[in-house]
Amino acid sequence: MITLGIETSCDETAVALYDSGKGLIGEAVFSQIELHGEYGGVIPELASRDHCQKITHIFHKALGDTQLSSIDQIAYTAGPGLLGTLLIGENFAQGLALALKKPLIPVNHLEGHLMAPFLGGEKLDFPFLTLLVSGGHSLIIDVKAFNDYEILGQSRDDAVGEAFDKVAKLIGLGYPGGPEIEKIAQHGDPNKFQFPQPMLHSDDYDFSFSGLKTSVLYAVQDLENITQDIQADICASFQQAATEVLVKKISKALIDTGREGIVLAGGVAANKLLREKISTLQESLNIRALYPPIAHCTDNAAMIAYLGSLKSDEATFHIKSHARPRWPLGKK
Ligand code: KG4
Ligand code: ZN
Repeated sequence: MITLGIETSCDETAVALYDSGKGLIGEAVFSQIELHGEYGGVIPELASRDHCQKITHIFHKALGDTQLSSIDQIAYTAGPGLLGTLLIGENFAQGLALALKKPLIPVNHLEGHLMAPFLGGEKLDFPFLTLLVSGGHSLIIDVKAFNDYEILGQSRDDAVGEAFDKVAKLIGLGYPGGPEIEKIAQHGDPNKFQFPQPMLHSDDYDFSFSGLKTSVLYAVQDLENITQDIQADICASFQQAATEVLVKKISKALIDTGREGIVLAGGVAANKLLREKISTLQESLNIRALYPPIAHCTDNAAMIAYLGSLKSDEATFHIKSHARPRWPLGKK
């Protein structure tokens, strides 16, 4: 069975084809990073316009030599995300479904991230914990089984990727801030600035990143000018504080739940310091850690096509809008 997947929840236009027998057989992604770069963040209206312009080309690129008629079902991200961009993916999916007379499966983007580690055939036994860290989410999820998820912890304010992006902007770096901060942090001293590690000792698995970002702002305001060395020290100290909180909280969740596996997902999962710290944790707790390839950690349609292939019992011929900006994981 071949499932077409479409992803347009934010600033990536992505289409993929997943064959239940052969695995991933086609994939194309266009990232709008350059478009939003000069604004330091995603501008929803510009994102929608760009999805409109790119989606047909990306669809053909992903399709390659595969015949349109061999598509059996169409899965698309219906939320959470930006409503305007979600509607473009949904309308494209619906148009195709009508033309090809194939059923539709609206899927949850977060559930796509949760299942992404398995689309290449990797194995990890349920239950396990997922640390989903991106520009929009900072979540610790107990993945008990397919379709059975419990959010153990989340950010009470900014997502961790959002904090990376805002701090980068504060010190004059480009967007997205995560990779920029990571690069410059290599030359800095992580102990130069004592930035707070919010909620480190709270008795739950929640995060808070806005205070950390504000303390960087205060540090910057106290400086007369930001030399390259100081910029590097800020990056290293901020990265150290942000990753430390993530790792401490996931460590607490692993110990309390007794789970023996962890998956890293979302754009921030690309961060090398975070990966190093998780590797150390893996050794000390004797657990398994799975890092999907970066291309499948960040937003992509392969995870949507794969998830759709697991949900073929939900495929329907009804043309009805399911797009929604908020869609809590596990809810219908
Ligand atoms: O998952 P993603 O591509 O898109 C969504 O937000 O859904 O994640 C993008 C986020 C941005 O905030 C970006 O700054 C962050 O991931 N990011 C990183 C790194 N690469 C991307 N943060 C820290 N270190 C990185 N190497
Ligand atoms: Zn995402």
